[in-house]
Amino acid sequence: MASGFAHRVARTGNSLAIRGRDAKKAADLARSVGATTGERVAADADIVIVATPYSDAIAALRQVGDLTGKVIIDITNPLTADYSGLTLGFTTSAAEEIQKAYPQAKLVKAFNTIFAQILGGHSVPAGGAVPVYVAGDDTNAKEAVKNFATEIGFKARDAGPLKNARLLEPLAVLNIYLGYGAGHGTAIAPAWLGL
Ligand SMILES: NC(=O)c1ccc[n+]([C@@H]2O[C@H](COP(=O)([O-])OP(=O)(O)OC[C@H]3O[C@@H](n4cnc5c(N)ncnc54)[C@H](OP(=O)(O)O)[C@@H]3O)[C@@H](O)[C@H]2O)c1
Repeated sequence: MASGFAHRVARTGNSLAIRGRDAKKAADLARSVGATTGERVAADADIVIVATPYSDAIAALRQVGDLTGKVIIDITNPLTADYSGLTLGFTTSAAEEIQKAYPQAKLVKAFNTIFAQILGGHSVPAGGAVPVYVAGDDTNAKEAVKNFATEIGFKARDAGPLKNARLLEPLAVLNIYLGYGAGHGTAIAPAWLGL
């Protein structure tokens, strides 16, 4: 997912900084897209994307610098080991748990229903631009993420407050089932007729 974002962002001309726990891997990706790399990459960022497994997300964000006032896009799905379900839900979500860990940041859930193959441009669904559902409590942060999603080639759709991540995360599990379990492949994405 990080690589897919990196290539799409590079094409927009926006500046990009990449942080990974494997410095060489991060530097290689950064070099391939003309980005920078380093330690406190959040310092100058308008938007921070956390693209680790959910179980690593809170720890990984601790490594990128001060997140006060930063817009964080949470793309994670808190999947069970066999990818058939979620490790949390109903009364909370990955996005809400990350927001609780970083109350000084503005969490926005988005892109969790987009397969990496689509983000990376390797799978192209029929039917035009793919919808990205965007949920968050801060109006300006959500607008920024909707604009970002549009800029990198998706159709942004407002999915309401951050607690609607409780609905978007199970939707991703259904998408995984349809793509892998039911064998429809990765050129699919959830979309609503008429929306
Ligand atoms: N794959 C999809 O189709 C898809 C779709 C929607 C959402 N998502 C979500 O997107 C996230 C990333 O998925 P992915 O498929 O891109 O996973 P991935 O290929 O396994 O990549 C995860 C990345 O996170 C890094 N990482 C793990 N722990 C870290 C830590 N503590 N600090 C810094 N970096 C850390 C890994 O580093 P190393 O390279 O050093 O291991 C790796 O680069 C997941 O939360 C997933 O649920 C995935």
